[in-house]
Amino acid sequence: MRIRLVTSNPHKLAEVSQILAPYGIEVERLSAEKVEIQHDDVAEIARRAAENLCAQYGDYVVVEDTGLYIEALGGFPGPYAEYVYRTIGLSGVLKLLEGAANRRAVFKCAAALCLGGRVEVFLGEVRGAIAQAPRGTGGFGYDPIFVPEGLGYTYAELGDDVKNKISHRAQAFSKLAARLTAAASKRA
Ligand code: IMP
Repeated sequence: MRIRLVTSNPHKLAEVSQILAPYGIEVERLSAEKVEIQHDDVAEIARRAAENLCAQYGDYVVVEDTGLYIEALGGFPGPYAEYVYRTIGLSGVLKLLEGAANRRAVFKCAAALCLGGRVEVFLGEVRGAIAQAPRGTGGFGYDPIFVPEGLGYTYAELGDDVKNKISHRAQAFSKLAARLTAAASKRA
């Protein structure tokens, strides 16, 4: 089995490939124009982008969208995580949280799959906290400052092997894998 992931982010492509490998699902990058609506909810953003692409590219196309919601900032940057990372960066986010006692945050990932001409969305969510300073060298984006609940280490410190078992993306894509496996066994 093979999915076609619409992304320009090599880290996401590598992570999704590692997450899906145990299910025997290969991941190919699809270079396609992704329409991104403005919405607080990553599921809605991924769904709408996939709906646009399903008709054109067919089944097994997947659109993924991720957001980081920081409680003390009213959910900011949420789905605008990419823009915020590129503009104020990790140091800017940490500055916004200076003196904040509440550092709770949640990473949300939505994977929207085209299957049978329709779109199905799979969600993954990891609660955690924003560290006081960046730690670790693994991963990408906000990984050096995100500490999953109960672990005490940032995603970047935990490294790819651990992150890809527990992350928001791992949860969403494991559900997608289960759905694809079920669909394939029905056809067999
Ligand atoms: P996107 O809009 O889904 O492409 O992701 C938004 C931004 O969130 C990315 O550019 C990264 O900076 C960040 N991001 C997405 N997923 C992760 C992750 O798993 N760890 C850390 N940062 C992430």
